[in-house]
Amino acid sequence: MDVTAMIATAKSTRGLFLALTALGLSTYKWPTHVPVEDKAEYDYVVVGAGTAGSIVANRLSEDSNVNVLLIEAGGDPHWEAEYASLFPYLTKSEMDWNYTSVDDGYSAQYHRNKYLDLPSGKVLGGSSTLHHFYYVRGDPYDYKLWADATGDESWNWWNLLPFFKKSERLVDPEIINSETASFHGMDGAVAITRETRNQPLKYLEAFGDVGHKIMVDMNTNDTLGFAHALFTIDENGIRQSSAECYLATAKHRPNLHIMKNTMVTKVLFDGINAIGVEATSSEKLINIYAKREVILSAGAFNTPKILMLSGVGPQDHLDSLNIPVVKDLPVGKTLQDHAAVIVAHKLEQTSDPVETQPPWNFPVPTFVGSGALDKEQGYSDWVTLNLICRNNPAALLQLSSVVFGLHDDVCNQLAAAGTESEVLFTVMNKARPLSYGNVALQSSDPEDPPVITTGHFSNSVDLENNAAYILDYIKVKESSYFKSVGAETIYFDLPKCNSLDRDSIEYWKCYTLHMMDTTFHYSSSCRMGSVLDSRLRVLGINNLRVGDASAMPNQVTGNINTAVMVIAEKLADMIIKDNSE
Ligand SMILES: Cc1cc2nc3c(=O)[nH]c(=O)nc-3n(C[C@H](O)[C@H](O)[C@H](O)COP(=O)(O)OP(=O)(O)OC[C@H]3O[C@@H](n4cnc5c(N)ncnc54)[C@H](O)[C@@H]3O)c2cc1C
Ligand SMILES: *[C@@H]1O[C@H](CO)[C@@H](O)[C@H](O)[C@H]1NC(C)=O
Ligand SMILES: *[C@@H]1O[C@H](CO)[C@@H](O)[C@H](O)[C@H]1NC(C)=O
Repeated sequence: MDVTAMIATAKSTRGLFLALTALGLSTYKWPTHVPVEDKAEYDYVVVGAGTAGSIVANRLSEDSNVNVLLIEAGGDPHWEAEYASLFPYLTKSEMDWNYTSVDDGYSAQYHRNKYLDLPSGKVLGGSSTLHHFYYVRGDPYDYKLWADATGDESWNWWNLLPFFKKSERLVDPEIINSETASFHGMDGAVAITRETRNQPLKYLEAFGDVGHKIMVDMNTNDTLGFAHALFTIDENGIRQSSAECYLATAKHRPNLHIMKNTMVTKVLFDGINAIGVEATSSEKLINIYAKREVILSAGAFNTPKILMLSGVGPQDHLDSLNIPVVKDLPVGKTLQDHAAVIVAHKLEQTSDPVETQPPWNFPVPTFVGSGALDKEQGYSDWVTLNLICRNNPAALLQLSSVVFGLHDDVCNQLAAAGTESEVLFTVMNKARPLSYGNVALQSSDPEDPPVITTGHFSNSVDLENNAAYILDYIKVKESSYFKSVGAETIYFDLPKCNSLDRDSIEYWKCYTLHMMDTTFHYSSSCRMGSVLDSRLRVLGINNLRVGDASAMPNQVTGNINTAVMVIAEKLADMIIKDNSE
């Protein structure tokens, strides 16, 4: 099979799933749509039923004396979203906003397209219905920077720990019986399991061999090292999306109404007071009022879009679109993301048949690991997701061409290398990038997608660092396991890089720009410290808060869904406190 065939297969598989979804196999699970009338009133209106919005709506409606409306642009999750093995087929579907980045003429120039696909959930559960299951909290250092950015110590890691634990129901016996158990929640809404396959063990040993720490648990106050991955998958193999964990379980509450397939087009203001939202439902434009607060949880692209459509954003940008300005704020200006750089190693030869996996398993064995150039520093500079593909060229093709959109030549080289060999496929991130992208409006029409510039590697320090980090990571070749099987780093045929010395920073800078994509961690586009205060209130506006990935002051070390969950848990707690005073 080659790239073209793999992409065609992905397309037809999605078509098959769509047909199966039409049978309504899992419809029974999800809350029903409440057709809300124009001018209806609720205590709280939450916009977006994604990772964060579902949590906020659930927590606020725990109090039966308040009523909550949750508005979601998408519909029910398709049944295939529940099974871990099927994650490659969830994007470019009805559940995806299908946003793409602008060709910036610099990054992604060797990508399949000269721009990136930026999948993002348009469905109950939002991106937690599409995501890849890695459960990673990040390092206390990341959150120290949050506390610094807000001047509010309640955002430091130790003060957030109760909220991390609140959402978690860890079911892994090894961690539960270890000394790090106290860092985990055992009775929260989201079940967390651990990779139990043995294939990562020899790799963990190899990284240990070259000086990295091997850990049982990376979700404590010490995150520097290598470990089996934790997953937001429950003990029965079901995806732990926010829809599954926070909405399906709250669907009988009479004080929680959910509108599906309803798009919020703007926030309504009376002066500087947010009083409700305007939305399109069944092709009708309606106004819905919030007696207490409006909470935007529409994600890192759509929260800034809604704010700007409502007149909250950069004055010059809003002026250029004739949108009356309610408040001049740098909305959209500090978009961040973890650029993914794909690194691959070819290990032992094997003609073993590919191990078949049950559909509820993560498709291939995987482990996570992070490192720092200066080991004394105590926190990471880089973080990796590592996927083991043993004589499995199909998985490599799927990862490189369907999940990521690498150049066809690269995908085919990877598949060739992985035929009758084991290949370690590594997604490398700079923990806390310094580069910023931007989210802007294309027009004042809410139907138009936002204009998204990723900004990847626009700060040259990120590019330099990334090159150094790859060199640091591939030192694992010196481990006895890698040596014993004659492991090689795969130096892809990258026309512009071939003449450079492979041990040089220049080579790896070139490589980085050629082998990059997004890790789907869009964040910080309306961040605390410049658009929001530390209680997530929009600066200079009353009764309007933002709770989602856009609020993060900076990236965290690892996948960000858990950080978004913690923001939502804390936000709900703050709203309840602030409204009971
Ligand atoms: C393909 C993919 C893989 C990922 N893998 C991982 C992973 O393995 N681990 C991890 O930790 N993180 C992962 N992430 C990242 C993580 O899932 C996201 O960062 C997180 O879900 C963002 O949560 P959010 O609440 O900010 O936004 P979302 O969950 O995206 O929710 C926003 C919601 O608002 C709705 N909405 C938007 N606009 C409107 C509107 N105008 N009106 C009404 N509703 C609206 C959307 O439809 C959506 O449901 C992945 C993300 C993607 C896309
Ligand atoms: C995204 O693109 C796919 C494939 O082109 C399409 O089927 C789907 O409906 C699109 N999603 C939305 C929300 O329009
Ligand atoms: C983590 O916290 C424990 C106390 O709970 C402390 O003993 C340990 O030194 C801390 N580790 C790091 C790396 O900060």
